[in-house]
Amino acid sequence: MKESFISEANELRLGITLTVTFAVISISTAISAYVFKRKSNALNSKIRELEASLKSSIDKCVSERQGRIRAQQALRKELTQPKSENLKLAYYPMSPIGTIHSCFSTRNGTPRQPLLVPLARASLVFNTTRVPPASLEGLAEYSHCWILYIFHLNTDLEKLWKHPSQSGFKAKVRVPRLKGGKMGVFATRSPHRPCPIGLTVAKIEAVHENMMLLSGVDLVDGTPVLDVKPYVPYCDSIKEAAVPNWLTEDNLLTVTSVSFSGDFSSALENCWTIAEKKSLYASPAEFQSLIKQVLSWDIRSLSQRNRPHDAISKKENDEPLPNTSDVDEHQDETAFEHEREQNSLNSNEVIYHLILDGLNISYKIDQDGNVIVENVSNPVTFDNSSNSCNYLTWKDKLQ
Ligand SMILES: *[C@@H]1O[C@H](CO)[C@@H](O)[C@H](O)[C@H]1NC(C)=O
Ligand SMILES: *[C@@H]1O[C@H](CO)[C@@H](O)[C@H](O)[C@H]1NC(C)=O
Ligand SMILES: *[C@@H]1O[C@H](CO)[C@@H](O)[C@H](O)[C@H]1NC(C)=O
Ligand SMILES: *[C@@H]1O[C@H](CO)[C@@H](O)[C@H](O)[C@H]1NC(C)=O
Ligand SMILES: *[C@@H]1O[C@H](CO)[C@@H](O)[C@H](O)[C@H]1NC(C)=O
Repeated sequence: MKESFISEANELRLGITLTVTFAVISISTAISAYVFKRKSNALNSKIRELEASLKSSIDKCVSERQGRIRAQQALRKELTQPKSENLKLAYYPMSPIGTIHSCFSTRNGTPRQPLLVPLARASLVFNTTRVPPASLEGLAEYSHCWILYIFHLNTDLEKLWKHPSQSGFKAKVRVPRLKGGKMGVFATRSPHRPCPIGLTVAKIEAVHENMMLLSGVDLVDGTPVLDVKPYVPYCDSIKEAAVPNWLTEDNLLTVTSVSFSGDFSSALENCWTIAEKKSLYASPAEFQSLIKQVLSWDIRSLSQRNRPHDAISKKENDEPLPNTSDVDEHQDETAFEHEREQNSLNSNEVIYHLILDGLNISYKIDQDGNVIVENVSNPVTFDNSSNSCNYLTWKDKLQ
């Protein structure tokens, strides 16, 4: 009995304890649920807030992107806006990366092809704003390179801004080796092309800082250069490559001999003190070898070869030949610098002038194709300031 009472009492106590415990648990559960609910409400609203802010950011991004695209489209449109009403050109981000400082002061005398004149030197000076000197690392390990350049002296360059129907662009050009016969422009290397871009190959003599010394060049002084790429013989030269017959029928453009007048050497010595500040040549003797190499090719234009005296009157009128779009590969028929000496009494004896490495060289060529180099002088308008890339720049590299 006593035991059962005790047990009842215990049970009651236990019951109370349990009830209290449950109550506490359920209260605390209710509280936590309440707290949780409040917290989750806060979180939800925070999430909504964030979602809203994200959405607005995305919207902003999208509209910014659309704005950017619109701006880019506007810029592209602006860039491709025709320069004249008749013209619609596509533009690409291309402008010269450097400039050629060559021994060929004018187009006249500049070889028609690369490597014809091994002594023909030029410094290629890169614009360091556009290409840091590190761009040239490794280039000196090649013997030759390709050079892409602009035919900046083409007298018809302006016309290329016009609509093709008005540019007077000629599909066919006269070819020196065909004695005036014509070929489609893409079958020639004429400078008069729809895009006035030239391609040549040159020997790499040395690379120094932002400059290269090249030889065998056919590039006129001041030529803007677009690109340089290494010449890789195993893929750039094709043994079985074929060319048209007219290219191989040669000897039209070589001369019989080149000799110098008795006074020439002393005349050259006199000029040299001024010339050497700019020159890429070590000595008067080396420069004389250059003259010989240059004049061993008939550098006269086609009409000069055919009608030397006509050519002079044409020059005086400064009028281009009718419909002559091109004659030589690196020369403009319309703008050569040959002149006849004013006091030449013998009308058969035409004296030609060639500006080479800043020196004015006079020569004649007889009926049999013998060239006689008569005299040399400093040109009237000679910039005697020394050149930053003359022979002294390269002296150590050349030896
Ligand atoms: C070099 O390139 C920059 C940028 O294109 C140009 O502003 C500057 O005139 C160029 N310098 C020379 C010497 O061509
Ligand atoms: C030269 O071109 C003009 C138009 O540009 C043409 O009328 C004329 O017939 C051409 N002359 C020759 C000789 O081809
Ligand atoms: C060579 O040119 C110089 C300078 O122009 C001149 O003084 C000299 O008389 C010329 N010599 C000959 C032989 O024509
Ligand atoms: C070259 O010399 C000749 C005379 O010897 C002269 O007529 C001609 O103008 C000179 N050319 C230059 C660019 O000085
Ligand atoms: C260049 O020539 C002018 C006059 O002919 C002279 O005063 C000047 O000192 C010369 N400059 C150099 C670097 O020889």
